[in-house]
Amino acid sequence: MDKPQHHLFVCGSFRANGTPQGNCAKKESLQLVQHLQGEIDERGIEGVAVAMTGCLNCCVNGPVVIDYPSGHWYKGVTPAIADEILDAIENGAVAEAHLV
Ligand code: FES
Repeated sequence: MDKPQHHLFVCGSFRANGTPQGNCAKKESLQLVQHLQGEIDERGIEGVAVAMTGCLNCCVNGPVVIDYPSGHWYKGVTPAIADEILDAIENGAVAEAHLV
């Protein structure tokens, strides 16, 4: 696999002791990973990867998604907002309404 142009890091709320306790997991961020990967596959988007992270220390904004390497942080990400983020990536844009 080539290095992705966009790597979407979805907060999984995991803490140092391995327990997911934060906002993001409680607001179904795990399902968000599955949704994003499904959309990427369905749309055939090249160069976009998805991974889950530990707590990003931005819990009040959860679920949080970071688009790396652009450095855009998205807040309150739902499946519908995830679709907007992918729309923006496909159009070379940023889903500005959902930035942290
Ligand atoms: S639990 Fe997601 S930012 Fe802390």
